[in-house]
Amino acid sequence: MPQFTSIFSWSLIRHIYTVRTTREEMEREEQRWASTAGFLAACVGSAVGLGNIWMFPYRAGKYGGGAFLAIYIFLLFIVGVTGLTMEWTLGRSRGGGPIKSFAVMPFGKYLGVLPTVTMFLILSFYSVVFAWILRFFVGSISGEIFRESFLNDIAFQPQSLIFCIIAISITTLIVMAGVKRGIERANLVMMPLLFVLLIILAIKSVTLPGAYRGVEFYLMPDLSEMNATTWLMALSQVFFSLSLAGGTMVVYGSYQSKNRDLTLSSVATSLSDTAVAIIAGLVVIPAVFAFGMEPGEGPELIFVTLPKVFASMRFGWIFAILFFFTLILATLSTAISLLEVCVNALCEHLKWRRKKATFLSALLTMASGSFLSVNENFFEFIVDLSSIYLVILGALMASIALMWFYGSKRARDELNRGGRIKFGRWWEVMGKYVYPAVLIVILLAAALFGIG
Ligand code: PHE
Repeated sequence: MPQFTSIFSWSLIRHIYTVRTTREEMEREEQRWASTAGFLAACVGSAVGLGNIWMFPYRAGKYGGGAFLAIYIFLLFIVGVTGLTMEWTLGRSRGGGPIKSFAVMPFGKYLGVLPTVTMFLILSFYSVVFAWILRFFVGSISGEIFRESFLNDIAFQPQSLIFCIIAISITTLIVMAGVKRGIERANLVMMPLLFVLLIILAIKSVTLPGAYRGVEFYLMPDLSEMNATTWLMALSQVFFSLSLAGGTMVVYGSYQSKNRDLTLSSVATSLSDTAVAIIAGLVVIPAVFAFGMEPGEGPELIFVTLPKVFASMRFGWIFAILFFFTLILATLSTAISLLEVCVNALCEHLKWRRKKATFLSALLTMASGSFLSVNENFFEFIVDLSSIYLVILGALMASIALMWFYGSKRARDELNRGGRIKFGRWWEVMGKYVYPAVLIVILLAAALFGIG
């Protein structure tokens, strides 16, 4: 009998153990991109967001049009490719998110909490704007957006809370389904659709009578408009827009297999992100000019000026619906990537199951998002703090962890493994010296003169 009990308990333990390991293995397997196309779609999905369609056109409109665009493109090539490849390599070589990856440097484990919190803060303000976009989408179907005061009627009003909760719920459902089955699949559908819709909208906008003045303003750099603020804004825009903050891209990189490409993917991601920003500008600015309005309106450009443009356009309501739907795709794909960083941190460090981690992160985001939805001043503070300062700080720490502590040579070997193109020593020089120096300069300038 005792022998029987011990055999029984032994096989029970073995059974539990095998079930557990296979379940863990399955979860780990699910935590990988099925293809490089899927990885790319997810990274472009994260990069393309409010930064491109909301901030880029109004910042370009406010800070000198073509001058802003020219500097942006120039900087993008210098820092974009270097930054993306560094963050991906860091995540892939260390096999985890910022907390695990930053642990290569002293206090790194604690420093890695910062990008995780930054992602949470960005997600919180994102959910507020996402809620407005959902409300504008519904309003473009019912015709309410053509009411002059529509933005004021909904923004920072209790009625936007329900849309905030809907926005977070949609994001949560996709993240809960997993990296491969949720995030990758959703982005593979959303990204091509987003490109097609934006191109249709841009064609409509640039062919409006009188639109060419806007195209000229937007595409012709006026060198007299270039000043220090233009440079600073364009630089911080590059980081925010490419999701370079030591968070999302580190986590997404950790899901990419070691024998797959990172180098060519970084070029493709930077180019797609810039293309979307440029096309979004072509959707907004020429149309605004065509109807004799001003593009320097600021953050309200797409919510106040654009509905007026749609109202004066033939079949404008159709374009309004398409425009706000496109915005939903862009915002959702980014929100997913932000939530994933929080989920990843809970699963990795507290060993929580994915469902539980996603559920808790979603609840916390609902609480902070709802708070920001009705507190305008706090909302503005969080937008500036997270999208300018914390993003840059996170990107700086990621580059230092990889190039100075993990080792730049080792990092380059790791990066080139599986790469369709190989990066030379220039990459080490860029990543180790130029990139952090540029970041420190913006950070200091931003702290001293304040930008935003
Ligand atoms: N890249 C996103 C955008 O353009 C914002 C973002 C920043 C997302 C940092 C993740 C990390 O809207």
